[in-house]
Amino acid sequence: MKAAVFHKVGDISVDNVADPVIEQPEDIIVRVTSTAICGSDLHIYDGFIPQLRDEVLGHEFMGIVEEVGPTVTRVKKGDRVVVPFTIACGHCFFCSQGYHPNCEHSNPGMYGPEGNLLNSKGGGMFGYTDLYGGYNGGQAEYVRVPYGNAGPKIIPEELTDEQVLFLTDIFPTGWSAVKWGKVKEGDFVVIFGSGPVGLMAQKAAWLHGAARVIAVDPLEYRLETARRVNKVETLNADDDQLIEKIYEMTKGRGADVAIDAVGMEASRTFLEKAKAVINVEKGTSKVIELCVKAVRRSGTIAVVGVYGSPYDNFPIHRIFDKGLIMQFGQAQTHVYIDQCFEMVRSGKVTLDDIITHKLPLSQASEAYDMFKHKKDDCVKVVMKPNL
Ligand SMILES: NC(=O)c1ccc[n+]([C@@H]2O[C@H](COP(=O)([O-])OP(=O)(O)OC[C@H]3O[C@@H](n4cnc5c(N)ncnc54)[C@H](O)[C@@H]3O)[C@@H](O)[C@H]2O)c1
Ligand SMILES: [Zn+2]
Ligand SMILES: [Zn+2]
Repeated sequence: MKAAVFHKVGDISVDNVADPVIEQPEDIIVRVTSTAICGSDLHIYDGFIPQLRDEVLGHEFMGIVEEVGPTVTRVKKGDRVVVPFTIACGHCFFCSQGYHPNCEHSNPGMYGPEGNLLNSKGGGMFGYTDLYGGYNGGQAEYVRVPYGNAGPKIIPEELTDEQVLFLTDIFPTGWSAVKWGKVKEGDFVVIFGSGPVGLMAQKAAWLHGAARVIAVDPLEYRLETARRVNKVETLNADDDQLIEKIYEMTKGRGADVAIDAVGMEASRTFLEKAKAVINVEKGTSKVIELCVKAVRRSGTIAVVGVYGSPYDNFPIHRIFDKGLIMQFGQAQTHVYIDQCFEMVRSGKVTLDDIITHKLPLSQASEAYDMFKHKKDDCVKVVMKPNL
């Protein structure tokens, strides 16, 4: 079959690889009909999350069940499914409490309690390096999906792929950020990053009753997208008065909730890059620092942007002084996918309005280059194996 294969930093090509087969009794094989590129894929593409051997990428995908293992009861051949991006058994200590990204069974080689950089990670993820289980991903014609009784969600025929594809990851991720931020009726919410994840968090914030949603990004075209599709207020991240303006917009107190939907690859000055080299840091935690400043005292911060190293000068003094609550991590897609699906089905939310490009899978290399370099006002790329 054809698949988008990561070879080394900046080098992805569509190659012929072996078709996946059922390896475990609970596996299913999905024929992919739509797949997307995520900001998380860029961390591998850019070398911020290391991968030393070739791997099929892609953790955002949906398709048709082609084959099921002998113990699979939840889905059958021919079902149309969306698959959560974290791989989870569904019944271990963590899964049974809703913490599927920390599944004890899906990443046996690298799993551990310490959370070290290179040998003590959480549960597995599709197409997300050997650190997260070494599973091939869904930017491919076919993909092996473990734990067929725990992850895949059946989708009715009347909804298009584009309407539901983002239930794999980015809508439940924005939803998780809003849940972790404890957004409630009347809240002022500031969301850093207006890429696909930030845009989904903006939608989720409105659905949780926010009174004011402020989007921050250095790219004007992404702020324009935010205003157009989500009717939020916007501020440019490069504005010297950014934090002061957020205070002005929030009664001088700061936002009730701040969300980091940027992660370690935030835009940086030359000086910030030089400091990161000296401190042996992967990228920067500057957006967490901005969240800490922008949120009010006794406020809440949710961090869904990805971080891959320790960071010097982490603003623990401000976090303590302001009495903040913070939650980090991979999204709880397994927990929220049903609620998120219901929002789509009932028409309370539209997800496909952020798609800027639809391409055949055969153009994955160009698609990565475009999404990475923000060419052609790219916001979200959907790829189709049969286009
Ligand atoms: N926790 C999870 O489960 C989960 C799931 C999906 C994605 N992610 C992560 O979320 C992050 C965003 O993903 P995405 O797909 O939207 O990626 P993206 O790269 O398209 O979006 C990031 C956005 O942040 C903006 N940005 C850069 N510097 C900024 C700054 N200083 N202030 C404000 N905005 C700034 C960029 O211009 C861009 O629009 C990534 O780190 C990704 O890995 C996490
Ligand atoms: Zn993703
Ligand atoms: Zn588990």
